[in-house]
Amino acid sequence: MLFCGFAGYVEVRHRIHQNRRPMNASSIFRPGKPIDNPHYLVGRTPQLNRVRELLAEGGRTVVITGTRGIGKTSLARISASTFGSHVDTQCNGATTFHDWSVDLLTKLGVPTSIVEKSLEESFNAGFGATLIASLNLGGSKKTAHKEQGIAQKAITPERLLNIARQAKLDATATVDEFDRIPRTKVEEIGLFGDLIKVLGDSSDTHNLRLIFIGVSSGASRLFNGHPSIKRNVTAIHLNRLTRQAIRSFFKTVYDESGVRFEADVVERFATDFMGFPHFVHAVGDRCAKDRKGVSAIDMRAYERAVDAAVDEMLGIDSSLDLITSKKSAETDIVLIQILEAPDLRVTAQALKQKLAIARYDAERVEAAIEQLIERDVIRWGYGKTLVLADPEISPFLQANFRRRRHVTADVNFPLFDSSDDA
Ligand SMILES: Nc1ncnc2c1ncn2[C@@H]1O[C@H](COP(=O)(O)OP(=O)(O)O)[C@@H](O)[C@H]1O
Ligand SMILES: [Mg+2]
Repeated sequence: MLFCGFAGYVEVRHRIHQNRRPMNASSIFRPGKPIDNPHYLVGRTPQLNRVRELLAEGGRTVVITGTRGIGKTSLARISASTFGSHVDTQCNGATTFHDWSVDLLTKLGVPTSIVEKSLEESFNAGFGATLIASLNLGGSKKTAHKEQGIAQKAITPERLLNIARQAKLDATATVDEFDRIPRTKVEEIGLFGDLIKVLGDSSDTHNLRLIFIGVSSGASRLFNGHPSIKRNVTAIHLNRLTRQAIRSFFKTVYDESGVRFEADVVERFATDFMGFPHFVHAVGDRCAKDRKGVSAIDMRAYERAVDAAVDEMLGIDSSLDLITSKKSAETDIVLIQILEAPDLRVTAQALKQKLAIARYDAERVEAAIEQLIERDVIRWGYGKTLVLADPEISPFLQANFRRRRHVTADVNFPLFDSSDDA
Protein backbone atom coordinates (compact mmCIF):
# COMPACT_ATOMS: atom_id res chain seq x y z
CA MET A 1 0.00 0.00 0.00
CA LEU A 2 0.94 3.60 0.00
CA PHE A 3 3.10 3.58 3.05
CA CYS A 4 4.99 0.49 2.22
CA GLY A 5 7.68 2.62 0.68
CA PHE A 6 9.08 6.04 0.44
CA ALA A 7 7.88 6.37 -3.14
CA GLY A 8 4.27 5.97 -2.02
CA TYR A 9 4.73 8.58 0.63
CA VAL A 10 6.20 11.05 -1.83
CA GLU A 11 3.28 10.41 -4.14
CA VAL A 12 0.75 11.42 -1.48
CA ARG A 13 2.60 14.58 -0.55
CA HIS A 14 2.88 15.34 -4.22
CA ARG A 15 -0.86 15.06 -4.74
CA ILE A 16 -1.57 17.30 -1.80
CA HIS A 17 0.81 19.92 -3.03
CA GLN A 18 -0.75 19.81 -6.45
CA ASN A 19 -3.73 21.74 -5.13
CA ARG A 20 -5.64 18.55 -4.59
CA ARG A 21 -8.13 19.56 -1.96
CA PRO A 22 -7.38 17.62 1.21
CA MET A 23 -10.11 15.19 2.11
CA ASN A 24 -12.34 15.92 5.01
CA ALA A 25 -11.39 13.61 7.88
CA SER A 26 -14.98 12.66 8.44
CA SER A 27 -15.17 11.24 4.94
CA ILE A 28 -12.13 9.07 5.67
CA PHE A 29 -13.62 7.55 8.79
CA ARG A 30 -16.37 5.28 7.64
CA PRO A 31 -18.02 3.67 10.64
CA GLY A 32 -20.24 0.90 9.38
CA LYS A 33 -19.24 1.38 5.75
CA PRO A 34 -16.67 -0.73 3.97
CA ILE A 35 -13.52 0.94 2.69
CA ASP A 36 -13.93 2.00 -0.92
CA ASN A 37 -10.59 3.69 -1.43
CA PRO A 38 -7.57 1.37 -1.46
CA HIS A 39 -5.39 4.03 0.22
CA TYR A 40 -7.28 3.53 3.44
CA LEU A 41 -7.20 -0.23 3.48
CA VAL A 42 -4.28 -0.73 5.83
CA GLY A 43 -2.56 -3.89 7.00
CA ARG A 44 -4.01 -6.15 4.35
CA THR A 45 -1.38 -6.03 1.65
CA PRO A 46 -0.55 -9.76 1.68
CA GLN A 47 -4.24 -10.70 1.67
CA LEU A 48 -5.06 -8.20 -1.07
CA ASN A 49 -2.22 -9.48 -3.24
CA ARG A 50 -3.30 -13.06 -2.68
CA VAL A 51 -6.93 -12.41 -3.60
CA ARG A 52 -5.91 -10.50 -6.71
CA GLU A 53 -3.52 -13.26 -7.69
CA LEU A 54 -6.27 -15.84 -7.36
CA LEU A 55 -8.74 -13.73 -9.32
CA ALA A 56 -6.18 -13.24 -12.07
CA GLU A 57 -5.44 -16.97 -12.28
CA GLY A 58 -9.07 -17.96 -12.29
CA GLY A 59 -10.27 -21.44 -11.39
CA ARG A 60 -10.45 -21.11 -7.65
CA THR A 61 -13.19 -19.33 -5.82
CA VAL A 62 -12.09 -17.02 -3.03
CA VAL A 63 -13.76 -17.24 0.36
CA ILE A 64 -13.05 -14.53 2.91
CA THR A 65 -13.87 -15.41 6.49
CA GLY A 66 -13.44 -13.72 9.85
CA THR A 67 -15.48 -12.21 12.60
CA ARG A 68 -17.76 -9.18 12.21
CA GLY A 69 -16.20 -5.79 11.67
CA ILE A 70 -12.78 -7.22 10.87
CA GLY A 71 -12.73 -5.88 7.30
CA LYS A 72 -13.99 -8.73 5.08
CA THR A 73 -16.31 -6.69 2.89
CA SER A 74 -13.69 -3.98 2.47
CA LEU A 75 -11.04 -6.45 1.34
CA ALA A 76 -13.44 -8.25 -0.98
CA ARG A 77 -14.69 -5.10 -2.69
CA ILE A 78 -11.28 -3.52 -3.13
CA SER A 79 -9.96 -6.76 -4.66
CA ALA A 80 -13.00 -7.23 -6.87
CA SER A 81 -12.88 -3.73 -8.27
CA THR A 82 -9.95 -4.41 -10.56
CA PHE A 83 -11.26 -7.46 -12.41
CA GLY A 84 -13.91 -6.82 -15.05
CA SER A 85 -17.22 -5.40 -13.98
CA HIS A 86 -17.69 -5.51 -10.26
CA VAL A 87 -21.02 -6.17 -8.57
CA ASP A 88 -21.91 -6.82 -4.95
CA THR A 89 -24.60 -9.23 -3.86
CA GLN A 90 -25.91 -9.84 -0.34
CA CYS A 91 -27.39 -12.90 1.28
CA ASN A 92 -29.91 -13.07 4.08
CA GLY A 93 -31.97 -15.67 5.89
CA ALA A 94 -34.31 -16.08 2.93
CA THR A 95 -31.77 -16.24 0.11
CA THR A 96 -32.12 -19.10 -2.34
CA PHE A 97 -29.70 -19.99 -5.10
CA HIS A 98 -32.26 -19.00 -7.69
CA ASP A 99 -33.01 -15.59 -6.18
CA TRP A 100 -29.36 -14.88 -5.77
CA SER A 101 -28.68 -15.80 -9.41
CA VAL A 102 -31.50 -13.54 -10.58
CA ASP A 103 -30.10 -10.70 -8.52
CA LEU A 104 -26.61 -11.29 -9.90
CA LEU A 105 -27.74 -11.39 -13.54
CA THR A 106 -29.89 -8.31 -13.08
CA LYS A 107 -27.02 -6.37 -11.51
CA LEU A 108 -24.74 -7.47 -14.33
CA GLY A 109 -27.31 -6.27 -16.86
CA VAL A 110 -27.41 -9.55 -18.73
CA PRO A 111 -29.64 -9.03 -21.80
CA THR A 112 -32.98 -10.82 -21.88
CA SER A 113 -32.22 -12.47 -25.18
CA ILE A 114 -29.23 -14.27 -23.78
CA VAL A 115 -31.03 -15.53 -20.71
CA GLU A 116 -33.94 -16.60 -22.88
CA LYS A 117 -31.78 -18.42 -25.38
CA SER A 118 -29.89 -20.15 -22.66
CA LEU A 119 -33.05 -21.23 -20.94
CA GLU A 120 -34.62 -22.66 -24.07
CA GLU A 121 -32.03 -25.37 -24.13
CA SER A 122 -33.40 -27.31 -21.24
CA PHE A 123 -36.62 -25.69 -20.17
CA ASN A 124 -39.92 -25.73 -21.91
CA ALA A 125 -41.47 -22.39 -22.85
CA GLY A 126 -43.42 -22.15 -19.61
CA PHE A 127 -40.35 -22.36 -17.45
CA GLY A 128 -38.53 -19.85 -19.58
CA ALA A 129 -41.33 -17.31 -19.50
CA THR A 130 -41.64 -17.64 -15.77
CA LEU A 131 -37.98 -17.07 -15.24
CA ILE A 132 -37.85 -14.10 -17.57
CA ALA A 133 -40.77 -12.55 -15.73
CA SER A 134 -39.16 -13.07 -12.39
CA LEU A 135 -36.03 -11.46 -13.75
CA ASN A 136 -38.09 -8.40 -14.59
CA LEU A 137 -36.70 -8.57 -18.06
CA GLY A 138 -40.05 -9.01 -19.78
CA GLY A 139 -42.76 -11.67 -19.86
CA SER A 140 -46.00 -11.71 -17.92
CA LYS A 141 -45.98 -10.85 -14.23
CA LYS A 142 -49.12 -12.89 -13.75
CA THR A 143 -47.41 -16.05 -14.94
CA ALA A 144 -44.46 -15.31 -12.75
CA HIS A 145 -46.69 -15.09 -9.76
CA LYS A 146 -48.64 -18.19 -10.53
CA GLU A 147 -45.64 -20.29 -11.21
CA GLN A 148 -43.29 -18.92 -8.62
CA GLY A 149 -42.83 -22.37 -7.18
CA ILE A 150 -41.38 -23.50 -10.48
CA ALA A 151 -39.32 -20.37 -10.92
CA GLN A 152 -37.68 -20.98 -7.57
CA LYS A 153 -36.05 -24.04 -9.04
CA ALA A 154 -35.24 -22.50 -12.39
CA ILE A 155 -31.59 -21.50 -12.24
CA THR A 156 -29.12 -24.24 -11.54
CA PRO A 157 -25.34 -23.85 -11.25
CA GLU A 158 -24.85 -25.32 -14.75
CA ARG A 159 -27.42 -22.93 -16.15
CA LEU A 160 -25.73 -19.95 -14.57
CA LEU A 161 -22.41 -21.03 -16.02
CA ASN A 162 -24.06 -21.28 -19.45
CA ILE A 163 -25.50 -17.82 -19.19
CA ALA A 164 -22.12 -16.45 -18.07
CA ARG A 165 -20.54 -17.99 -21.16
CA GLN A 166 -23.17 -16.87 -23.60
CA ALA A 167 -23.31 -13.35 -22.21
CA LYS A 168 -19.49 -13.35 -22.31
CA LEU A 169 -19.48 -12.03 -18.78
CA ASP A 170 -16.22 -10.63 -17.54
CA ALA A 171 -17.12 -9.91 -13.97
CA THR A 172 -16.22 -10.29 -10.33
CA ALA A 173 -19.07 -10.56 -7.87
CA THR A 174 -18.91 -10.49 -4.11
CA VAL A 175 -21.38 -12.75 -2.31
CA ASP A 176 -21.58 -11.04 1.05
CA GLU A 177 -22.99 -12.27 4.36
CA PHE A 178 -23.13 -15.82 3.08
CA ASP A 179 -23.27 -17.02 6.69
CA ARG A 180 -26.73 -15.53 6.99
CA ILE A 181 -28.19 -18.36 4.93
CA PRO A 182 -29.08 -20.87 7.65
CA ARG A 183 -26.80 -23.92 7.53
CA THR A 184 -29.96 -25.99 7.79
CA LYS A 185 -30.84 -25.01 4.22
CA VAL A 186 -28.67 -27.87 3.10
CA GLU A 187 -29.94 -27.88 -0.48
CA GLU A 188 -29.39 -24.16 -1.09
CA ILE A 189 -25.93 -24.17 0.43
CA GLY A 190 -25.19 -27.26 -1.64
CA LEU A 191 -26.13 -25.41 -4.85
CA PHE A 192 -23.60 -22.67 -4.07
CA GLY A 193 -21.03 -25.38 -3.42
CA ASP A 194 -21.94 -26.96 -6.77
CA LEU A 195 -21.55 -23.60 -8.47
CA ILE A 196 -18.03 -23.30 -7.10
CA LYS A 197 -17.31 -26.73 -8.56
CA VAL A 198 -18.76 -26.00 -12.03
CA LEU A 199 -16.98 -22.66 -12.23
CA GLY A 200 -13.73 -24.29 -11.20
CA ASP A 201 -14.01 -27.29 -13.52
CA SER A 202 -14.48 -25.14 -16.61
CA SER A 203 -12.50 -22.09 -15.62
CA ASP A 204 -11.03 -21.65 -19.10
CA THR A 205 -14.46 -21.19 -20.67
CA HIS A 206 -15.81 -18.29 -18.64
CA ASN A 207 -14.76 -15.15 -16.76
CA LEU A 208 -17.11 -15.12 -13.82
CA ARG A 209 -15.21 -14.76 -10.56
CA LEU A 210 -16.83 -14.99 -7.16
CA ILE A 211 -15.70 -13.88 -3.73
CA PHE A 212 -17.76 -15.35 -0.93
CA ILE A 213 -17.73 -13.54 2.39
CA GLY A 214 -18.92 -14.92 5.68
CA VAL A 215 -18.58 -14.73 9.43
CA SER A 216 -17.00 -18.07 10.16
CA SER A 217 -13.87 -19.67 11.45
CA GLY A 218 -13.33 -21.37 8.10
CA ALA A 219 -14.64 -21.94 4.59
CA SER A 220 -15.58 -25.56 5.06
CA ARG A 221 -18.08 -24.80 7.82
CA LEU A 222 -19.56 -22.02 5.73
CA PHE A 223 -20.44 -24.54 3.00
CA ASN A 224 -21.52 -27.38 5.29
CA GLY A 225 -18.36 -29.27 4.37
CA HIS A 226 -19.23 -29.42 0.65
CA PRO A 227 -16.67 -31.68 -1.08
CA SER A 228 -15.69 -29.07 -3.69
CA ILE A 229 -14.53 -26.63 -1.02
CA LYS A 230 -11.18 -28.30 -0.56
CA ARG A 231 -10.55 -28.62 -4.27
CA ASN A 232 -11.93 -25.38 -5.67
CA VAL A 233 -11.73 -22.82 -2.90
CA THR A 234 -8.95 -20.76 -1.42
CA ALA A 235 -9.96 -19.40 1.94
CA ILE A 236 -8.53 -16.22 3.35
CA HIS A 237 -9.13 -15.77 7.03
CA LEU A 238 -8.83 -12.24 8.39
CA ASN A 239 -7.40 -11.61 11.81
CA ARG A 240 -7.36 -8.38 13.73
CA LEU A 241 -5.21 -5.58 12.39
CA THR A 242 -1.79 -5.16 13.91
CA ARG A 243 -0.94 -2.06 15.91
CA GLN A 244 1.44 -1.07 13.18
CA ALA A 245 -1.37 -1.17 10.61
CA ILE A 246 -3.54 1.08 12.77
CA ARG A 247 -0.66 3.52 13.19
CA SER A 248 -0.22 3.64 9.45
CA PHE A 249 -3.93 4.32 9.05
CA PHE A 250 -3.54 7.51 11.11
CA LYS A 251 -0.56 8.49 9.05
CA THR A 252 -2.76 8.27 5.96
CA VAL A 253 -5.46 10.28 7.70
CA TYR A 254 -2.95 13.01 8.41
CA ASP A 255 -1.49 13.03 4.94
CA GLU A 256 -4.84 13.09 3.22
CA SER A 257 -6.79 15.40 5.51
CA GLY A 258 -4.29 17.32 7.62
CA VAL A 259 -6.07 16.09 10.76
CA ARG A 260 -3.47 15.07 13.28
CA PHE A 261 -4.00 12.67 16.15
CA GLU A 262 -1.39 13.08 18.86
CA ALA A 263 1.05 10.19 19.14
CA ASP A 264 -0.28 8.93 22.49
CA VAL A 265 -3.82 8.99 21.10
CA VAL A 266 -2.74 6.93 18.09
CA GLU A 267 -1.28 4.41 20.54
CA ARG A 268 -4.60 4.20 22.32
CA PHE A 269 -6.37 3.54 19.02
CA ALA A 270 -3.78 0.88 18.28
CA THR A 271 -4.39 -0.94 21.57
CA ASP A 272 -7.87 -0.17 22.92
CA PHE A 273 -9.84 -1.74 20.12
CA MET A 274 -7.90 -4.94 19.80
CA GLY A 275 -7.28 -4.41 16.10
CA PHE A 276 -10.92 -4.16 15.09
CA PRO A 277 -11.02 -1.44 12.41
CA HIS A 278 -14.73 -1.04 13.02
CA PHE A 279 -14.08 0.70 16.34
CA VAL A 280 -11.16 2.71 15.07
CA HIS A 281 -13.54 4.24 12.53
CA ALA A 282 -16.39 4.78 14.99
CA VAL A 283 -14.21 6.59 17.53
CA GLY A 284 -12.04 8.32 14.92
CA ASP A 285 -15.16 9.69 13.29
CA ARG A 286 -16.32 11.10 16.63
CA CYS A 287 -12.98 12.77 17.20
CA ALA A 288 -12.99 14.27 13.73
CA LYS A 289 -16.55 15.56 14.03
CA ASP A 290 -16.06 17.08 17.49
CA ARG A 291 -12.73 18.70 16.84
CA LYS A 292 -14.19 22.11 15.91
CA GLY A 293 -11.22 23.57 14.10
CA VAL A 294 -8.59 22.24 16.51
CA SER A 295 -5.87 20.71 14.40
CA ALA A 296 -4.56 18.02 16.77
CA ILE A 297 -6.69 15.51 18.62
CA ASP A 298 -5.43 15.02 22.16
CA MET A 299 -6.12 12.49 24.89
CA ARG A 300 -9.03 14.38 26.40
CA ALA A 301 -10.79 14.59 23.07
CA TYR A 302 -10.12 10.90 22.55
CA GLU A 303 -11.62 9.90 25.87
CA ARG A 304 -14.70 11.99 25.25
CA ALA A 305 -15.09 10.33 21.88
CA VAL A 306 -14.77 6.84 23.37
CA ASP A 307 -17.47 7.63 25.92
CA ALA A 308 -19.79 9.02 23.28
CA ALA A 309 -19.19 6.11 20.95
CA VAL A 310 -19.71 3.59 23.74
CA ASP A 311 -23.01 5.24 24.66
CA GLU A 312 -24.07 5.28 21.05
CA MET A 313 -23.25 1.63 20.56
CA LEU A 314 -24.91 0.48 23.74
CA GLY A 315 -27.90 2.64 22.93
CA ILE A 316 -28.50 1.10 19.55
CA ASP A 317 -27.70 -2.48 20.31
CA SER A 318 -30.71 -3.88 22.08
CA SER A 319 -28.93 -7.11 22.88
CA LEU A 320 -26.91 -5.06 25.31
CA ASP A 321 -29.90 -3.77 27.25
CA LEU A 322 -29.08 -6.40 29.73
CA ILE A 323 -25.76 -4.83 30.49
CA THR A 324 -26.95 -1.27 30.61
CA SER A 325 -30.31 -1.54 32.31
CA LYS A 326 -31.19 -5.02 33.51
CA LYS A 327 -27.70 -5.89 34.62
CA SER A 328 -26.99 -7.82 37.77
CA ALA A 329 -23.73 -8.29 39.60
CA GLU A 330 -23.66 -11.85 38.26
CA THR A 331 -24.16 -10.99 34.61
CA ASP A 332 -21.42 -8.39 34.91
CA ILE A 333 -19.00 -10.76 36.52
CA VAL A 334 -19.67 -13.56 34.05
CA LEU A 335 -19.04 -11.18 31.16
CA ILE A 336 -15.91 -9.76 32.73
CA GLN A 337 -14.46 -13.21 33.14
CA ILE A 338 -15.00 -13.92 29.45
CA LEU A 339 -13.63 -10.52 28.44
CA GLU A 340 -10.53 -10.95 30.55
CA ALA A 341 -9.74 -14.42 29.25
CA PRO A 342 -6.87 -14.35 26.76
CA ASP A 343 -8.91 -15.69 23.87
CA LEU A 344 -12.29 -14.48 25.06
CA ARG A 345 -13.53 -17.89 26.22
CA VAL A 346 -13.83 -19.77 29.51
CA THR A 347 -15.13 -23.21 30.33
CA ALA A 348 -18.41 -23.09 32.20
CA GLN A 349 -17.01 -25.35 34.87
CA ALA A 350 -13.95 -23.21 35.58
CA LEU A 351 -16.11 -20.10 35.57
CA LYS A 352 -18.50 -21.49 38.14
CA GLN A 353 -15.69 -22.75 40.33
CA LYS A 354 -13.96 -19.39 40.39
CA LEU A 355 -17.15 -17.53 41.11
CA ALA A 356 -17.96 -19.94 43.91
CA ILE A 357 -14.57 -19.26 45.46
CA ALA A 358 -15.35 -15.55 45.25
CA ARG A 359 -18.60 -16.32 47.10
CA TYR A 360 -21.03 -15.76 44.28
CA ASP A 361 -24.30 -17.62 44.68
CA ALA A 362 -24.23 -20.65 42.37
CA GLU A 363 -27.87 -20.39 41.40
CA ARG A 364 -27.64 -16.73 40.56
CA VAL A 365 -24.53 -17.35 38.46
CA GLU A 366 -26.34 -20.13 36.62
CA ALA A 367 -29.30 -17.81 36.01
CA ALA A 368 -27.01 -15.04 34.78
CA ILE A 369 -25.38 -17.40 32.28
CA GLU A 370 -28.75 -18.50 31.01
CA GLN A 371 -29.96 -14.93 30.74
CA LEU A 372 -26.88 -13.87 28.81
CA ILE A 373 -27.29 -16.79 26.42
CA GLU A 374 -30.98 -16.06 25.98
CA ARG A 375 -30.20 -12.45 25.14
CA ASP A 376 -27.58 -13.57 22.65
CA VAL A 377 -24.75 -11.79 24.44
CA ILE A 378 -22.81 -15.02 25.00
CA ARG A 379 -23.14 -18.49 23.53
CA TRP A 380 -21.74 -21.98 23.91
CA GLY A 381 -18.43 -22.59 22.13
CA TYR A 382 -16.34 -25.70 21.63
CA GLY A 383 -15.56 -27.90 24.61
CA LYS A 384 -18.30 -26.51 26.89
CA THR A 385 -16.79 -23.06 26.81
CA LEU A 386 -18.70 -19.80 27.02
CA VAL A 387 -17.80 -17.24 24.39
CA LEU A 388 -19.11 -13.86 23.34
CA ALA A 389 -21.89 -14.27 20.78
CA ASP A 390 -20.39 -11.41 18.84
CA PRO A 391 -16.69 -10.88 19.49
CA GLU A 392 -16.98 -7.51 17.84
CA ILE A 393 -18.58 -6.09 20.96
CA SER A 394 -15.69 -6.99 23.25
CA PRO A 395 -13.70 -3.77 22.91
CA PHE A 396 -16.79 -1.75 23.63
CA LEU A 397 -17.79 -3.87 26.56
CA GLN A 398 -14.31 -3.51 27.92
CA ALA A 399 -14.31 0.23 27.44
CA ASN A 400 -17.70 0.40 29.09
CA PHE A 401 -16.65 -1.69 32.07
CA ARG A 402 -13.46 0.27 32.44
CA ARG A 403 -15.55 3.40 32.61
CA ARG A 404 -17.86 2.03 35.24
CA ARG A 405 -15.34 1.92 38.04
CA HIS A 406 -17.28 -0.37 40.34
CA VAL A 407 -16.15 -3.27 38.28
CA THR A 408 -12.51 -3.04 39.28
CA ALA A 409 -13.42 -3.99 42.84
CA ASP A 410 -15.21 -7.10 41.62
CA VAL A 411 -12.37 -8.48 39.58
CA ASN A 412 -9.95 -8.50 42.49
CA PHE A 413 -9.54 -12.22 42.44
CA PRO A 414 -7.36 -14.35 40.22
CA LEU A 415 -8.28 -14.06 36.58
CA PHE A 416 -8.40 -16.92 34.17
CA ASP A 417 -5.30 -18.01 32.42
CA SER A 418 -5.17 -20.03 29.22
CA SER A 419 -4.80 -23.31 31.10
CA ASP A 420 -8.50 -23.02 31.96
CA ASP A 421 -9.19 -23.72 28.34
CA ALA A 422 -7.61 -27.13 28.25
N1 LIG B 1 -7.91 -2.73 6.37
C1 LIG B 1 -8.64 -1.73 6.88
N2 LIG B 1 -8.08 -0.55 7.19
C2 LIG B 1 -8.83 0.45 7.69
N3 LIG B 1 -10.14 0.36 7.92
C3 LIG B 1 -10.76 -0.78 7.65
C4 LIG B 1 -10.04 -1.89 7.11
N4 LIG B 1 -10.90 -2.90 6.92
C5 LIG B 1 -12.10 -2.46 7.32
N5 LIG B 1 -12.05 -1.18 7.75
C6 LIG B 1 -13.19 -0.42 8.30
O1 LIG B 1 -13.70 -1.23 9.37
C7 LIG B 1 -15.11 -1.31 9.35
C8 LIG B 1 -15.56 -2.73 9.13
O2 LIG B 1 -15.17 -3.15 7.83
P1 LIG B 1 -16.02 -4.17 6.96
O3 LIG B 1 -15.25 -4.41 5.72
O4 LIG B 1 -17.42 -3.69 6.82
O5 LIG B 1 -15.96 -5.45 7.91
P2 LIG B 1 -16.77 -6.84 7.84
O6 LIG B 1 -17.28 -6.99 6.44
O7 LIG B 1 -15.76 -7.88 8.20
O8 LIG B 1 -17.85 -6.73 8.86
C9 LIG B 1 -15.55 -0.33 8.27
O9 LIG B 1 -15.82 0.90 8.89
C10 LIG B 1 -14.36 -0.23 7.35
O10 LIG B 1 -14.35 1.04 6.72
MG1 LIG C 1 -19.26 -7.09 5.86
